[in-house]
Amino acid sequence: MSESLYFTTEAENRTARYSELLPQLKALLEAENDTIVLYANIAAALKEAFDFFWVGFYRVQENQLVLGPFQGPIACTRIQKGRGVCGKAWELNQIIIVPNVDEFPGHIACSSESKSEIVLPVYNSNKEIIAVLDVDSNKYNDFSNIDQNGLSQIVAFISENVIA
Ligand code: SME
Repeated sequence: MSESLYFTTEAENRTARYSELLPQLKALLEAENDTIVLYANIAAALKEAFDFFWVGFYRVQENQLVLGPFQGPIACTRIQKGRGVCGKAWELNQIIIVPNVDEFPGHIACSSESKSEIVLPVYNSNKEIIAVLDVDSNKYNDFSNIDQNGLSQIVAFISENVIA
């Protein structure tokens, strides 16, 4: 098992980077079913591959989202259902891309440097939402269907592996 990531492409070429990252993540984590291990190394790998401003997980704990493994500046610790982009993605059970966080009603600004973000629900094998994956950028309009596709494959991999 390799314990370092290897890229031949530029971080700006996201399509190519996701293509390089996915098989390496799968090889690194295929034997893991512990959610914290998966979240921790996925957050680290996404930070390393794309140098996102903030990338991490909020775990569903009873009726709220609770901060889990992440990479980046310290962040809000608890988010209520329906609040902010994360709480909305959980409530609506859908992926949300926010090109400009200033224009998203109820956006929770953990950092004023965050300008755009994408949030994806994370499911267990029973299709229940167990977490959300939140990726923030310090640039406006930084996320597209390329990120949606790449990150969707990562959360699908989590669903296949977790026991929770
Ligand atoms: N901006 C998010 C909160 C989490 S942080 O950005 C890390 C939201 O509105 O849900």
